[in-house]
Amino acid sequence: MSPATVLEVTDLRVGLRRGDGEVPVLDGVSLTVAAGECVAVVGESGAGKTVLALAVVALLPPVMRVVGGGIRVAGTEVVGASDATTRALRGGAVGMVFQDPQASLHPAFRVGAQVAEAIEAHRPEVGRAGARAEATERLRRVGITDPRAFPHQLSGGMRQRVMLAMATANDPPLCIADEATSALDVTVQAQVLDLLASTRAATGAGLLLVTHDLGVVATVADRVVVLYAGRVVESGPAAEVLAAPRHPYTQGLAAAVPRLDRVAPVAPIPGQPPDPWDRPSGCAFRTRCPRADARCADEVPVLGAEAPGLAAVACHHPGPSA
Ligand SMILES: Nc1ncnc2c1ncn2[C@@H]1O[C@H](COP(=O)(O)OP(=O)(O)O)[C@@H](O)[C@H]1O
Ligand SMILES: [Mg+2]
Repeated sequence: MSPATVLEVTDLRVGLRRGDGEVPVLDGVSLTVAAGECVAVVGESGAGKTVLALAVVALLPPVMRVVGGGIRVAGTEVVGASDATTRALRGGAVGMVFQDPQASLHPAFRVGAQVAEAIEAHRPEVGRAGARAEATERLRRVGITDPRAFPHQLSGGMRQRVMLAMATANDPPLCIADEATSALDVTVQAQVLDLLASTRAATGAGLLLVTHDLGVVATVADRVVVLYAGRVVESGPAAEVLAAPRHPYTQGLAAAVPRLDRVAPVAPIPGQPPDPWDRPSGCAFRTRCPRADARCADEVPVLGAEAPGLAAVACHHPGPSA
């Protein structure tokens, strides 16, 4: 039996209100995360990664709304769900770790009390004292030995560990980490990523890892989904996509990563990703693409199906980099 699907996003479309109209920010995004699996969502700033993460926990900003498609978390449909359902989901079935723990931790409360609060909110039967004891143990597991510490007494990496303990306090089947380690030093980043991996291994949770960093993807992801201007342009097993990307955009991202094992110069992709209200017709990447031709301006390329040993790609001219 294949492992349970903990997240299933199907043809998700999110619109952004602009003037008296609406433009798509996510345009037909589909992906799945299985129990125990780490799926990385990558793409440049503005691709729609955070919007995707927020949509999963029904926390889109007021200027956006889901205009189509579905999101199932551990069997529960999120789109159109009641506030009570989505509140129970957050911190219950979905643990969330965001980039800035400063913004998510309350400055006036001790970290142990905050983790205990997360436990009590979803498992009241544990009781106050039980939640306190469990919080202490969960913090210890992520390397925080003093539950009486206040957030400001901890380093950025330590605060991120607290966030991790809090996000996983109810052993959620799905965790979402949005640029969770991007603000940290490289060594601390590696520690937190290790911790994320071991937590996942221990609980069998699925992880949706949002990052702009392909180095991080190579280290921890099983699968990768590449987003460009709100559409999936390539997806497949991480090792395969990183070793032999077929979409010119993924190739561009890969070429922009400094590597120790080659002397080739780092080459950023020329130009900027488009704004949602200024998206080129056809393939949105065509204005930056070395292979673009007339067809790319006319026809939106459709993401093909993944086959064994072959990633799915949405491109009229896919293939190995030149
Ligand atoms: N609160 C908001 N109001 C208006 N536009 C937004 C808001 N948040 C994000 N956007 C726009 O939505 C698009 C996707 O943003 P986002 O998901 O944050 O990108 P990423 O996380 O991939 O960098 C961008 O064009 C961004 O400008
Ligand atoms: Mg983001």
